[in-house]
Amino acid sequence: METIDQVAVKREESEKDGTAPAIAVEDLHKSFGSQKVLNGISLAVKRGETLAVLGRSGTGKSVLLRLIIGLEKPDSGSVRIHGRDLAGLDLDQLGEIRMKMGFLFQHAALYDSLTVEQNVAFPLQHHKKEASKSEQSERVRQLLAEVGMAGHLEKMPSDLSGGMQKRVGLARALALDPDILLLDEPTAGLDPISAAEIDDLVLKLQAEHHMASIVVTHDLHSAKTIANRLALLNEGNVVIEGSFEELQRSDIAFVREFLGHSS
Ligand SMILES: Nc1ncnc2c1ncn2[C@@H]1O[C@H](COP(=O)(O)OP(=O)(O)OP(=O)(O)O)[C@@H](O)[C@H]1O
Ligand SMILES: [Mg+2]
Repeated sequence: METIDQVAVKREESEKDGTAPAIAVEDLHKSFGSQKVLNGISLAVKRGETLAVLGRSGTGKSVLLRLIIGLEKPDSGSVRIHGRDLAGLDLDQLGEIRMKMGFLFQHAALYDSLTVEQNVAFPLQHHKKEASKSEQSERVRQLLAEVGMAGHLEKMPSDLSGGMQKRVGLARALALDPDILLLDEPTAGLDPISAAEIDDLVLKLQAEHHMASIVVTHDLHSAKTIANRLALLNEGNVVIEGSFEELQRSDIAFVREFLGHSS
């Protein structure tokens, strides 16, 4: 496990040689009214790496992702994407950076009133206007094939199983060829077999696209499968960060309790 100081030193070193981590979060604080949600979170993720963020319900995992995407602003601390602090960007610059970030929200993964095809085409229509209709349509087919959903173009989200909806959400997240992928509970609510299939898909996508990924999950098994590193949050802080084996070796009471309840 690294201390915040070690992480900060590494960040400075990597920025000097031009290899800033794709995502670097430092000492992030966020409250809603009198409720402190994040209380000094620091994390860094490089390209090719997957970090699983674990923690009980209500610990601020989704809030953390929203801050990284720039949908909300921290009270203090910083979010740097490829070395650029989001706080210093105007809306156009933020939009540009966000285009290279694929995300799958915890709820409402898809637009209910659009077909599968229209859902995946949505980012292309808004951000790849130069592409012709047939190029866009070809790209949508390619993306859906990649997530194992070829042949479901005309279906509505309500006609799909939960696992299929997540697959389509992943295809949409990948539409603009992101170098950062943020997934909020991609296996929540799925049966174990469908969850394992999504894990395999996330691993395959990661191997093929070499992104910097953060996957928020309650599911320790899933985290162990897809992530290089795990970060466990509690009461607004990172309690421990490391490999699954490092978490298993920890004698921190909260870590032991969390692993015990999740296995
Ligand atoms: N926009 C908001 N306004 C007020 N409170 C909020 C807002 N967003 C989040 N919160 C509060 O922040 C806390 C953390 O929420 P968050 O959704 O990040 O939890 P989580 O760790 O993702 O939980 P879960 O595992 O259930 O998805 C919750 O108590 C929530 O009510
Ligand atoms: Mg959440």
